Amino acid sequence: MTTNQKKRTKAISVGRTTRRKTTEADKADRYRLYQESVQDVESEIDFVDETYTRLNGAKARLLREDFCGTANTACEWVRRRKTNVAYAIDINPEALAWGMTNNVAALTPTTKKRVHLLEGDVRYAETEPLDIVLAMNFSYWLFMEREEMLEYFTGVHGGLGDKGVFFLDAYGGYDAPRTIQETRECDGFTYEWEQAKFNPINSEMDCYIHFGFPDGSRMEKAFTYTWRLWTLPEIREMLYEAGFQRVTIYWQGWDEDGEPDGIFQPAEEAEPDAGWICYISAEK
Ligand SMILES: C[S@@+](CC[C@H](N)C(=O)[O-])C[C@H]1O[C@@H](n2cnc3c(N)ncnc32)[C@H](O)[C@@H]1O
Repeated sequence: MTTNQKKRTKAISVGRTTRRKTTEADKADRYRLYQESVQDVESEIDFVDETYTRLNGAKARLLREDFCGTANTACEWVRRRKTNVAYAIDINPEALAWGMTNNVAALTPTTKKRVHLLEGDVRYAETEPLDIVLAMNFSYWLFMEREEMLEYFTGVHGGLGDKGVFFLDAYGGYDAPRTIQETRECDGFTYEWEQAKFNPINSEMDCYIHFGFPDGSRMEKAFTYTWRLWTLPEIREMLYEAGFQRVTIYWQGWDEDGEPDGIFQPAEEAEPDAGWICYISAEK
């Protein structure tokens, strides 16, 4: 065999081995999967809208979604009422572009005029005085030092109007600092949450979202988070230090099957469950 023949044989076999079948993971869109498996923007906006109205005796109009990713929640806010306006801020232009093409574009022409996507750091956001600021899905835990969290909370306080309310969520329980993996079946794929690393000295943790598909293919580490597992007393103390007048924790009850019932009520005392999620409101 000549050198040329050898080369030709090699090129053909490389061509054969690289031509593999397209898998479900190859075809999947990670932002779409995230929205379908992680978010429930309707329930979230129900809670925020009702709680604001209960606290202030009037409906909110101006909402800012911090760490908005694809701005799914901001789009839900402007769909709710013709007067609602939303600002959505994220530092990642790719997530914002996806949100613009997929979420904002799906709104009617008049509705889409009331949602404004902004690229930047939430700590330096400048918007008109707001009724509501949201920091959901634990995104604010990306701030791992007390000073940077306080800087963020103080900025939110300054950005709210007189009757403004800051809404956040938090999770915890005795499974929270463990290195574990949980799976949940979704429509056409499996959602996997992995707590891969936890450092008890500074409470820093690495978490991943993976997706699995019926054909056996996988999207590993579709989303990765390094954050601090903050506790409710710490969060509450920092919110008061940032100037908020009243901070309330909202806890879920249980349904007859022993599952969380999705109804969040103000609470001062709760059970030490393995894993809990709660909402927090901080009134200016
Ligand atoms: C957990 S994801 C978004 C979650 C979304 N809010 C939800 O409810 O599902 C966190 C987002 O925060 C953004 N982010 C991280 N640091 C930021 C910062 N300093 N300012 C603005 N966005 C930031 C990331 O780009 C990412 O899109």
